[in-house]
Amino acid sequence: MLVVKYHGHSCFSLTDENYKVLIDPFITGNPQTDLKKEVVNPTHILLTHGHSDHLGDAIEISIRNNAIIIAPNELAVYCQNNGALVHRMHIGGAKQFDFAWVKLTPAWHGSAVIDGDNIIYTGSPCGFVIKMSDKFIYHAGDTGLFGDMKLLGDLYPLDCALLPIGDNFVMGPDDALRAAGMLRAKINIPMHYNTFPEIEQDPYQFVDSLIAKHPVLQAKVLEPGESIIL
Ligand code: NI
Ligand code: MN
Repeated sequence: MLVVKYHGHSCFSLTDENYKVLIDPFITGNPQTDLKKEVVNPTHILLTHGHSDHLGDAIEISIRNNAIIIAPNELAVYCQNNGALVHRMHIGGAKQFDFAWVKLTPAWHGSAVIDGDNIIYTGSPCGFVIKMSDKFIYHAGDTGLFGDMKLLGDLYPLDCALLPIGDNFVMGPDDALRAAGMLRAKINIPMHYNTFPEIEQDPYQFVDSLIAKHPVLQAKVLEPGESIIL
């Protein structure tokens, strides 16, 4: 049994009997979050890229919980240099960990830590295919639509896809519908919307459109703090 819980923006936790994985823990400054960074207790942290709305509070949470950060190489090294425990990976690479099998997938986006006037580039952004408790989850990260999402759908029997719909910086709803058609995950959950004025969207309209366009697929809006069980 795997519990997939939404924490606003692109932050999700995946929890089974033994492990809690936190993806893109953007808590400080996230108006949608239901988490408190002082008490959240993941065993592992996955980061898609270095932008502040994804890296978030990961380093502090990693240090406090001895939770390993799994991220693209350059971002992992940045986190390590700031005191976190890390495991470095990169796009196309997969690894069987104790808690899950994790593969890094492409994402068309940028990746940098922006600190005042200083821009520290943190390599390529990524998405993740995760097999945990025998369920396949795809977290797309921040990305535009790309045709190889069909390849991911062909390769992996996805139980759940977490898809950005905010537009402006990432896929908008129309491209996320196309993504869902290529990925063919059993259930699709929108993310990366309504956190900032630039990414205002109606996730319920997205879900209705998805079910109308792809009747064999499911879709659901999760409010922050709400979860589904796979
Ligand atoms: Ni980003
Ligand atoms: Mn973002």
